[in-house]
Amino acid sequence: MRINLYVWRQAGRDKPGRLVNYSTDDVSSDMSFLEMLDVVNEGLIVKGEDPIAFDSDCREGICGTCGFLINGLPHGPVRGSTVCQLHMRSFRDGATVVLEPWRAKAFPIIKDLVVDRSAFDRIIQAGGYTSINVGGAQDANSILIAKDTVEQAMDSAACIGCGACVAACKNASAALFTSAKITHLSLLPQGEVERDTRALRMVERHDAEGFGSCSNEGECEAVCPKEIPIRNIARMNREYFRATLLRGR
Ligand code: SF4
Ligand code: FES
Repeated sequence: MRINLYVWRQAGRDKPGRLVNYSTDDVSSDMSFLEMLDVVNEGLIVKGEDPIAFDSDCREGICGTCGFLINGLPHGPVRGSTVCQLHMRSFRDGATVVLEPWRAKAFPIIKDLVVDRSAFDRIIQAGGYTSINVGGAQDANSILIAKDTVEQAMDSAACIGCGACVAACKNASAALFTSAKITHLSLLPQGEVERDTRALRMVERHDAEGFGSCSNEGECEAVCPKEIPIRNIARMNREYFRATLLRGR
């Protein structure tokens, strides 16, 4: 099949960027989207040109490394899927496809489709962990947790930190990502001890990194490849409010 690609090319953060056209006939509908880009890049390398920079690692939807805008949609047209899980059969023969990096002040461009998502790491460093001593591994049934609660916690833990929620949001808010981490830990007994400091520190780090506030647009939930629900943001707000009351802030 033939694909008419327009790709954002930008050599670095302070360099000017532009969309560059690459057309290719060498595409099979069975290829993954990233395999199609690999083919385009092999052609560029053979011609002595700079290959398109994009992130990927696991290529099976679990690591959160990949991600860019495809025709304006984070991760492309298939709901609940990452770029690396997308296949060329989702596009018609002769389609025009525009690729751009995540656009957010807190995600500065490194090169082409690659952005710096270390702001997410710093939000996790602010409180997305448990530092209490929980002893050795327990028998599976020795800490009883209600089934609904544990399922909510595990669904929140499914966030892969890809950043699509930020890219989709008109406020460039990372509220869905931050709330997934806060929800995951606040629902489990191991996370209870540091519950208040975690909510305060992670929300304040989120704001300090330059992400915007949530205004309930729901774009984040619509594009999240792990379908993290927006109700987690309501939980995060309650956790933060509770912590400020308890701390008298
Ligand atoms: S909440 Fe969803 S879109 Fe946002 S970082 Fe996590 S997996 Fe990606
Ligand atoms: S490369 Fe790991 S989720 Fe896409």
